[in-house]
Amino acid sequence: MTEKTVTSCACNEVHEDELYERLLTIVKSQRTIPGALIPVLQTTQNLFGYLPQRALHMISKELKIPYSEVAGVVGFYSYFSTTPKGKYTIRVCMGTACYVRGGQDVLKALQKKLQIGVGGTTPDRKYSLEIGRCFGACGLAPVVMVNDETFQSVKPSKVSDILNSFE
Ligand code: FES
Repeated sequence: MTEKTVTSCACNEVHEDELYERLLTIVKSQRTIPGALIPVLQTTQNLFGYLPQRALHMISKELKIPYSEVAGVVGFYSYFSTTPKGKYTIRVCMGTACYVRGGQDVLKALQKKLQIGVGGTTPDRKYSLEIGRCFGACGLAPVVMVNDETFQSVKPSKVSDILNSFE
């Protein structure tokens, strides 16, 4: 179950503080391990769903790695994100087979329906929209993935059905 954004409730802040406490414990336990930065960043992203600036500063301080270096690693790997993601990450394949069979139209339909661009997240943090490069199902292009679930031969007219299946 996902967290709802309830800005007027102090519970959220407590929850976030707990996450930072857990992160601090993890980072401290990794301090002396060479090459700990990337595993720590992965753990942090799993913990928060993205990499908040505060967490990056904490990691920089505790691992004694300059912040610029931490930020550089985060920027280098597309896997890492410094913006919050939605509960469901929708990835539209833009590999050749999917592109020529209408992947672009599927993407446009999703952008219109969700009112966000590629790399964006809906205000309710339910969906994030991304593009991918070949999910290995070219024979049934165009392909869309929602988290780990694959949808094949997707038509623009069917994007609402796909989204509704995640209500
Ligand atoms: S090009 Fe889209 S699955 Fe291969």
